[in-house]
Amino acid sequence: MQTLRLIPDDDGIAQAAALLTRGECVAIPTETVYGLAANARDGGAVARIYHAKGRPSFNPLIVHIPDLAAARAIATLPAQALTLAYAFWPGPLTMVLPLRADAGIASLVTAGLDTIGLRVPAHPVAQALLRASGLPLAAPSANASGRISPTTADHVLDRDTGLDGRIAAVLDGGPCPVGLESTIIGWPEGRATLLRPGGIPAETIQAALGQSLARHEADPSAPNAPGQLTSHYAPRAPLRLNAEPRPDETHLAFGTPGPLSLSASGDLTEAAARLFDLLRRADAIGRPISVAPIPDHGLGRAINDRLRRAAAPRD
Ligand code: TXA
Ligand code: MG
Repeated sequence: MQTLRLIPDDDGIAQAAALLTRGECVAIPTETVYGLAANARDGGAVARIYHAKGRPSFNPLIVHIPDLAAARAIATLPAQALTLAYAFWPGPLTMVLPLRADAGIASLVTAGLDTIGLRVPAHPVAQALLRASGLPLAAPSANASGRISPTTADHVLDRDTGLDGRIAAVLDGGPCPVGLESTIIGWPEGRATLLRPGGIPAETIQAALGQSLARHEADPSAPNAPGQLTSHYAPRAPLRLNAEPRPDETHLAFGTPGPLSLSASGDLTEAAARLFDLLRRADAIGRPISVAPIPDHGLGRAINDRLRRAAAPRD
């Protein structure tokens, strides 16, 4: 794939919007870092983000929307979240909020959680694209997995750490003014909590709330992925991996057809897009769950990582 470098004039924005509407990934400037954007309503498009980044695990992704009204169509905002939205949106603040049942967001975006990270970016190019496409855009930082976040289009296209040849286009909006990812606030135990330090200092947020923020306990096994282990969806039913079907279990097939097949044709992109939906549906049946072997390459690595977490013993 040849990665286009688009100038963010009306033509370039329209081209980027058309690519996103077709389910392609486009790297876009935001005031924090470049994000690798895809249509958050399209599970296949979101799976392509992971594929392009070579990301070995599914973290929940931040969804970018143009304004507070669009946020309200996707999530419920408690009073404190509204206060922060009025104070800091558009800007480098992400809030983890209860997902609305009618939000229409692909489950791969939230990694199957019932919360969603939302942000209204301030960058004029990001704003223009959100309005031109009319899509909520899921976007992690636009770097290859494990590499530093990009703050210029050249970083995005870097031969070693970038995504040249792996994504449809990058919208070149020049250097990102903030250069550091957004501050993430959530209410995991009902209390406003700093989930990730970022572009807005915690003190500034505390001043707006008139109260101190709880700190998220750092997870030593995943220092760069706040909340990664605790926040992932795990089914209630026991999960058996690399398994043949048994009559007393609900089986998630792969490469063979069936009502709960991750992909009848053995397509890993399709399986990624369906994974969290099918896990939830299997769990609702109330029997132990087994999952067919998934090839451990490409997106299969991320799927297997997620399945191992879901199958791990719980306390
Ligand atoms: O500035 C930014 O935030 C950039 C630009 C592109 O907007 N995006 C970014 O995304 O940094 P990413 O995917 O690299 O980081 C997303 C973080 C992850 O650490 C994830 O754990 C957290 O947000 N997150 C997202 N949704 C969440 C949820 N529902 N619950 C808990 N954490 C969530
Ligand atoms: Mg990142």
